[in-house]
Amino acid sequence: MTDGSPAGTIVAGPKPYSPGLEGVVAAETALSLVDGERGVLLYRGYRIGDLVDHGTYPAVANLLWTGDWDAGHHLPTALVPEAVLVALRGLPTTAKPMDALRTAISVWGATQTLEWPPTAEQARALTAFSPSALAAFARLRRGEDPIEPDLGLDLVPGFLYQLNGERADPATARVLDAYFIVGAEHGLNASTFAARVITSTRSDIASAVTGAIGAMKGPLHGGAPAEVVEQLHQVGSPEHAEQWVRETLDRGERLMGFGHRVYRAYDPRAAALRRVAESMEHKPDWLELAIAVEDVALRVLAERHPERALKTNVEYYAAPVLMGVGLTPDLFAATFALARNAGWTAHVLEQSAANRLIRPDARYIGPSERDLPE
Ligand code: ACO
Repeated sequence: MTDGSPAGTIVAGPKPYSPGLEGVVAAETALSLVDGERGVLLYRGYRIGDLVDHGTYPAVANLLWTGDWDAGHHLPTALVPEAVLVALRGLPTTAKPMDALRTAISVWGATQTLEWPPTAEQARALTAFSPSALAAFARLRRGEDPIEPDLGLDLVPGFLYQLNGERADPATARVLDAYFIVGAEHGLNASTFAARVITSTRSDIASAVTGAIGAMKGPLHGGAPAEVVEQLHQVGSPEHAEQWVRETLDRGERLMGFGHRVYRAYDPRAAALRRVAESMEHKPDWLELAIAVEDVALRVLAERHPERALKTNVEYYAAPVLMGVGLTPDLFAATFALARNAGWTAHVLEQSAANRLIRPDARYIGPSERDLPE
């Protein structure tokens, strides 16, 4: 086809353009299904609530990597290579934990032989090493020495042990494990897409996850659980919840942890997290407060927005869970990245198994062909 361009020039016909690739199907996946209308999230067909009730993060990660359900699958954290520790020691103590984790995984990649195609073993090694690296950074910046993995512990209690220097009580570890399960995978979000794009060039798994962390670091993706913590602090106690919710909405502000672009029903990840938190024998104060504020918030949001379902999203219960297990808010985003390692690496495996270089077109909107000025 020609359109007045120099004779013989072939130009493409009009192609659909979707800013942000919204509505564009860019991959096939067997890993997860997100049904926002019904409030359903499935990993390889299994309901997220059932996985939280009957599984552990290592079992769920293994399911994502291999397709096999083995409820007893064990995955301890792994040693941090010396080259990574040297890099972490070289960072300023003010570095963001997401930057430290991204750096650690990049350096780790340089210490490994990560041949194409990526394997489940590579996914396992990256996922097992990352919590040790984040815990090491968190300790180094406090002036403390990193702690070696306890191979008798599974990944999440192992992470808490390396972070705090003592074993967490089982109920605390279980709540954080539930958070890791619900954070493990969520379709073709921006960071997962970034991981698939990098993999499609036949690059290695460490490069794909390093890029994914770069994408997740942005405030439009990493979410706002730290802001939920701030709002719960502002409420202070359950009897102030009603007044605080109404005044916040009257000021035109949003309630953090409510509403979602995809979910119209109650976010099934929030439901699963709430259930696990509520089953703790000694309910911490933060949980009582979060439940009280949620009840009021749902009632008042329904009153103010009868036309739009505004329900609890995963960030709402993620925040008090992360706070309750003793993580400081500046570690929240990097902890989310640790959980998402399972999903990112599973997408790397899936992409490589049926690879096609991801290379979309751009619509040119610059000047037409012209001569350089004299
Ligand atoms: N509090 C109060 N009002 C809200 C909230 C909220 N949390 N969320 C939406 N609304 C209102 C909006 O003010 C808007 O009202 P209007 O039409 O009178 O202006 C209406 O509901 C529709 O809002 P949109 O912004 O169009 O909804 P969208 O689907 O684009 O937003 C989002 C989804 C960004 C999550 C939004 O609900 C929000 O800002 N929530 C608070 C922040 C939050 O919890 N983020 C975490 C999301 S979960 C995740 O990222 C993993």
